[in-house]
Amino acid sequence: MSSLEIKFRKTKLDSEKMKRILITGATGNVGTEVIYYLKERDNESEIIAAVRNIDSAKKSFPNFPNLLLKRFDFEDENSFNTAFKNIDVLFLLRPPHISQVDKFFKPLLASAKENGIEKVIFLSVQGVEKSKVIPHHKIEQLIIQMGFNYIFVRPSYFMQNLTTTLLPEILKNKTITLPAGKAKFNWIDIKNIGEVAAILIKSFEKYQNKAYEITGTENKSFKEVTELMSKIAGIKFSFKPINPISFYFKKRKEGVLKGFAVVMTILHFLPRLQKEPRISDDFSVITGKKTTTLKEFIEREKEKITKHKLQQT
Ligand SMILES: NC(=O)c1ccc[n+]([C@@H]2O[C@H](COP(=O)([O-])OP(=O)(O)OC[C@H]3O[C@@H](n4cnc5c(N)ncnc54)[C@H](OP(=O)(O)O)[C@@H]3O)[C@@H](O)[C@H]2O)c1
Repeated sequence: MSSLEIKFRKTKLDSEKMKRILITGATGNVGTEVIYYLKERDNESEIIAAVRNIDSAKKSFPNFPNLLLKRFDFEDENSFNTAFKNIDVLFLLRPPHISQVDKFFKPLLASAKENGIEKVIFLSVQGVEKSKVIPHHKIEQLIIQMGFNYIFVRPSYFMQNLTTTLLPEILKNKTITLPAGKAKFNWIDIKNIGEVAAILIKSFEKYQNKAYEITGTENKSFKEVTELMSKIAGIKFSFKPINPISFYFKKRKEGVLKGFAVVMTILHFLPRLQKEPRISDDFSVITGKKTTTLKEFIEREKEKITKHKLQQT
């Protein structure tokens, strides 16, 4: 066998061998879906959930009682070494309250490197390349500078914001108050992100060293979305515009932490100053499927946004 053939066979075997995949943010919106789709499509690899609290995290995966869990805390450097041992692929996200990249992500990535991790898939955000102020921009740069093979998943605005962060106001007042004005957002279902991430991880070598924009096919304003919610749920929901400063102080008064209140304000105000989001076909090219539409999402999650009404009747 020629040396070229040996090299080819070795590369093929390397890419096919069982991978050990560590998922950070495993108990969160995206992490849970990534684990679900990885388990569904990859029997060979070992999937490990990196969690702050092993006992409480067990409850997050009732369908996967044998899922391996490892203690890992972004804010505790001592937890990195054990979590990163013998890992081939690291699925990394930035928990919403952590924005100091140098303080938290530099040591984390240095430890990943020391432990021999070569592949990092990072949950970033659409438009990150244009916005140097958001922490994801700096994290992407760090990952490249430190010489990892990388995949950047850059999703648009999560449909699930309607059923998580924005839900208390939706249930209480049937309103959504945001500094978003008439700006159009691109809406993506987190299940679509989980599904595409599982494919990217499984075939990492095929997709590596590129960024993928994962978007839905609809750009819609909050007014349009509340109208659609009203039509589907049969209850009147409305959008209440607010200026960014009042919004920030409203959130602080509600007890939202400073960093998260800033992020929420920027996230919903900036699109007013920008062009409409780009609609990408990366999801359908990679999966061969279509993304969830807003109509499908609202129909699927109708009970969550109308829970208040159901409880009263
Ligand atoms: N919302 C959007 O529209 C949107 C759009 C594009 C990109 N993104 C990005 O998506 C990311 C958020 O993803 P998500 O919605 O899946 O997050 P999430 O649901 O808020 O989950 C955060 C996860 O991080 C874990 N975590 C928090 N602090 C930790 C710590 N100190 N150590 C270890 N784990 C910790 C949480 O674990 P516990 O169970 O222990 O709390 C949880 O599993 C953000 O970077 C955001 O910028 C969001």
